[in-house]
Amino acid sequence: MLNDKILNYFKRHEEGYISGEDLSHELGISRAAVWKHIENLREEGYDIEAFPHLGYKLVSVPDSLTEVELKWRLKTDIIAKKVYSYKETASTNDAAYDLAMHGEKEGSIVIAESQTAGRGRMGRIWISPKSKGAYFSVILRPDILPKEVSSITLFSALSVAKTIREMTNLAAFIKWPNDVLIDSQKICGVLTEMNAETDKINFVIIGVGININTKKELLPKGATSIAEESGRELSRVEIVRSVFRNMDKYYRFFNSGHIDEIIREYKEFSNFLGTRVQVTYHETKIEGYAIDVDRDGALVLRMDSGLNERVLAGDVTMLR
Ligand code: BTN
Repeated sequence: MLNDKILNYFKRHEEGYISGEDLSHELGISRAAVWKHIENLREEGYDIEAFPHLGYKLVSVPDSLTEVELKWRLKTDIIAKKVYSYKETASTNDAAYDLAMHGEKEGSIVIAESQTAGRGRMGRIWISPKSKGAYFSVILRPDILPKEVSSITLFSALSVAKTIREMTNLAAFIKWPNDVLIDSQKICGVLTEMNAETDKINFVIIGVGININTKKELLPKGATSIAEESGRELSRVEIVRSVFRNMDKYYRFFNSGHIDEIIREYKEFSNFLGTRVQVTYHETKIEGYAIDVDRDGALVLRMDSGLNERVLAGDVTMLR
């Protein structure tokens, strides 16, 4: 798209001015057409000043989750090599699933400013107010068995928790398997879905929802946002870029068999180990001490009987 080409040209010449003539030359369009595109970008929130005799200068960019902004200086190997960015979609997981069914490469992202039917785990809804949070899905095609997929979900939550700690100093923790919490309130959730045969995964969709600048009134009870906890609005673009970089790193670990390293870091961010928990899975509830997360991403509970039990899915409530 021409607008994207103009933006990339600006970004490559960050320090200086760009003349309308250079742009028209670069893009092979008339100067009047250049002017029209610049107007267009201004409407999208780009502050582009025009200086007589000097040319145009990009002064500031909007906090929009577009491909150009998200990929700027991203430097990842796999994650976000391609970004499909929508103003609105039903669910980015559904859009990513459709793309993957049509052969989309691994690493591609679907991201939206808002979702009309955002989904959470266990049939819950994920509230996705416009331009406040980040709602995205990543397509991966790992060469593993379906039962090995959990650690991908774990490192996705870890990637978000790590970004929040690095960018805000807030004490972000993970509640097994993949909720990111600040002060016991939920800030991010991960919904992993896959298309698989018994012994082979075709693709995995990792859906990530992060409440970034969302006001608490708009969120369900028990949820919060980074802005609410830090007292200031944050750049959604910077947060998402950082999560992409973290995911890219952990996916490299994962592909080179360093699952133990992922689990070790995951456990450093966990707030449930050593506590007594109740795990609910639909109608079933079990209680015990959370003592470990194993290589398969299972939660290991020490039961009152003294025996250990591995739990593969469910919702954790910390009892004390
Ligand atoms: C949960 O904690 O229950 C998981 C929430 C996952 C929400 C994200 S938002 C982007 C992607 N699209 C969806 O419909 N859901 C996930």
